[in-house]
Amino acid sequence: MMNFDFYNPTKIIFGKDRIEELDDLIPPKARILLTFGGGSVKKYGTLEKVKRALKDRHVVEFGGIEPNPHYSTLIKACSVVKNENLDFLLAVGGGSVMDGTKFIALASRYKGDALDLLTPDFGLAPVESAIDLATIVTLPATGSEMNNGAVISHKGKKVPIFSMHTFPKFSMLDPSLTFTLPKTQVANGIVDTFIHTVEQYITYPVDGRFQDRTAEGILQTLIEIGQTCINESKNYDARANLLLCSTMALNGLICSGVPQDWTTHMIGHEITAVFGIDHGKTLAAIQAQIWTIRKKEKWDKLLQYARRVWKIEELDEGKAIDLAISKTNDFFESLGIATNLGAYDITKEDIPKILKSMKNNDRTKLSERSNLSLDISEKILLASL
Ligand code: NZQ
Ligand code: ZN
Repeated sequence: MMNFDFYNPTKIIFGKDRIEELDDLIPPKARILLTFGGGSVKKYGTLEKVKRALKDRHVVEFGGIEPNPHYSTLIKACSVVKNENLDFLLAVGGGSVMDGTKFIALASRYKGDALDLLTPDFGLAPVESAIDLATIVTLPATGSEMNNGAVISHKGKKVPIFSMHTFPKFSMLDPSLTFTLPKTQVANGIVDTFIHTVEQYITYPVDGRFQDRTAEGILQTLIEIGQTCINESKNYDARANLLLCSTMALNGLICSGVPQDWTTHMIGHEITAVFGIDHGKTLAAIQAQIWTIRKKEKWDKLLQYARRVWKIEELDEGKAIDLAISKTNDFFESLGIATNLGAYDITKEDIPKILKSMKNNDRTKLSERSNLSLDISEKILLASL
């Protein structure tokens, strides 16, 4: 096992009908910015419940944070925070609202040009503090509710930002808030959680038994509950398991002490940036080809995945791996998510656009060993058509 630090200060408030507890969780004198997306939280009554729970506190609303949240939208929220002297941010929504709120927390306190915050790539944002934030999750997918990362869109790029000051103080996880999700968003969330898990698991072995078994537990749970989550929109237990999996898959636990390979996400982000395809959908479209092309490098863990997650007993190791890859695709397809780029009308002629964007954003040395070059990404993309 490799050396690691594990730190996660976010308090999780899990279960149904707990919005009333907000009053005890947020400091009494807090001046709050309530952030949300395009209107689902208004339509389904969540925002109203939150406002009621906040009683007579000073609350200002900022809606309209779009999927793949834009710098230009978020910077407007920073002006509201400064003008109204607000000191607590409460995000109600999915990954985009939570990520956007993390950026608002950083940029509102930052004395320099807020664009500086977009420059460190995977390094830490150059800040000494941020405004306290908390989240109420409505879409199980990104894990943003229990991590310190955010992905912000600016000028056709999706930029990752990180800070030790953007862990939510608390996150409220109520599975019943996910009942109103369209099926395609539930499926996106299952795929996103699945891919987060395999990107911290299918690398090379370092005898991280706890991490491996935990990752396998998340994957097996997703396979067990996937169909129920899609077909039974009000199945509380299925949604509770999904929500817990998505939060635990990207909170720093299963990546501790093991190698990580974020190739799927790095290529997927570029596909979203160029073509606007939902985050989860980009991942399902390319994962199988990444594994097929990197089979040799990932042999041991792919085989472990085949044996332990899919229970494949085929003696020929190569065939067992191929079977596990095709079962993964079958699983995504069964959720209604395509496993090729052609399904989104992306053609051979479009691949150079994605590669150009990858080159511009320095995504030229990917994988657990930083040896997945742009040439290999090209092969992956062409094979994914
Ligand atoms: O905007 P509203 O009207 O709220 O509608 C949203 C949005 O259209 C809707 N929705 C959310 N909760 C709902 C609901 N509709 C009905 N009922 C509900 N309960 O769903 C749509 C998609 O929402 P969005 O927040 O964009 O989806 P998701 O949670 O998948 O977040 C995707 C974003 O997170 C980033 C992605 O890059 C993308 O920008 N990621 C963030 C990560 C992180 N912070 O750690 C890691 C991820 O890998 C990912 O990159
Ligand atoms: Zn993701």
